[in-house]
Amino acid sequence: MKWPGALRYGPPMATASDHSDSAATEFDKGRAKAFTQQMVDILNSGAMAVMVSVGHKTGLFDAMDGAPPDTVEGIAKRAGLHPRPVREWLSAVACAGIVEHDPARGTFLLPAEHAGLLTRRAGPLNLAVQAQYLGLFGAVEDDVAESFTDGSGVPYDKYPKFQAVMAQSSGDRQERTLVDVVVPMLPGGTERFQEGIDLADVGCGSGLALCLLGKAFPKSRFTGFDFSEDAIATARQRAADAGLSNVHFEEADAAALEHPQSFDYVTSFDAIHDQAHPAKVLAAIHGMLRPGGVYLCVEPKASSDLAEMLDEPMAPFIYTISTMHCMQVSLAYGGEGLGAAWGQQTAVEYLETAGFHDIEVTGVREDRANTFFIARA
Ligand SMILES: C[S@@+](CC[C@H](N)C(=O)[O-])C[C@H]1O[C@@H](n2cnc3c(N)ncnc32)[C@H](O)[C@@H]1O
Repeated sequence: MKWPGALRYGPPMATASDHSDSAATEFDKGRAKAFTQQMVDILNSGAMAVMVSVGHKTGLFDAMDGAPPDTVEGIAKRAGLHPRPVREWLSAVACAGIVEHDPARGTFLLPAEHAGLLTRRAGPLNLAVQAQYLGLFGAVEDDVAESFTDGSGVPYDKYPKFQAVMAQSSGDRQERTLVDVVVPMLPGGTERFQEGIDLADVGCGSGLALCLLGKAFPKSRFTGFDFSEDAIATARQRAADAGLSNVHFEEADAAALEHPQSFDYVTSFDAIHDQAHPAKVLAAIHGMLRPGGVYLCVEPKASSDLAEMLDEPMAPFIYTISTMHCMQVSLAYGGEGLGAAWGQQTAVEYLETAGFHDIEVTGVREDRANTFFIARA
């Protein structure tokens, strides 16, 4: 299957033939100079990813959102923070052009055009949420580096905050799209959900997706499966807080699920590529569906072919998330280590091998980072 390259932009990277040509050429001083600049940009961008994450966690971006130019003290007061670290942070983000600084007045301003990508108000467009992954991965960098020697991976319990960050990064998107955009895309759609269906969510994490569905479709029944004790505890609490009697969660290994022909729909959101045994999980999902049942598998948008990823704008980020987490957790449980960029072509092959047919590969405008596979059992 051809990768559509829907996210592609930016200058093309060197190809294999460029590479063999350049190997024979002289040392290129211009190229070395350009790479020096690239390395400086990498260091500054990496630093800013951490500062953006801190700005999100401390609420500084939200405190500056829509506010007039203000002093360090004014901004710190509005955010309820100590002025000294706020000054240092403002200096960093001002030097990077994230906020504007007026040296004469000693004030700082978050431009509206930037606030739209950095504040909680921005919902799924808030890229500061994604920046949190970089800080999270700093905590496991030594474990990840060590795993390179024998490929033994890094287990989930080394990532204590992962579930919380994941819930934030998928939460806004699901709140805005799941009920109004995604359900109507499915065969049978909103009408069948209103009449009453049985749906399972595999790798449900902290349960937001099912709680949204449970609330919107009270005649339907929803069951979430995840092997994380923490995630299931959070999910159960979420359902209890919302008073949902049609939403249940079970702690279970997705590769060992045995609920033959028990569901009309199964969903998984970003939960197949980091499985230890994805083929087993997909076979289990196939077995859980009633005849004609529908599986919605949402996975990171990628091509399985690295050559087609070289000029994808978010490809370095996707492969980094994978190197630092997705591939590692799979390897840690003796798994295949598919990685976040296992891609559309490989995903379709796995779905077909598990017995699915009529696989529709589609997307959602509000969720450009993911591919939606809608398959029939
Ligand atoms: C990337 S998270 C996605 C969570 C959630 N679906 C979301 O979109 O926020 C993947 C989830 O799969 C779960 N998971 C991974 N391997 C599993 C397995 N073998 N059995 C059950 N759950 C598993 C993890 O605990 C994690 O909650």
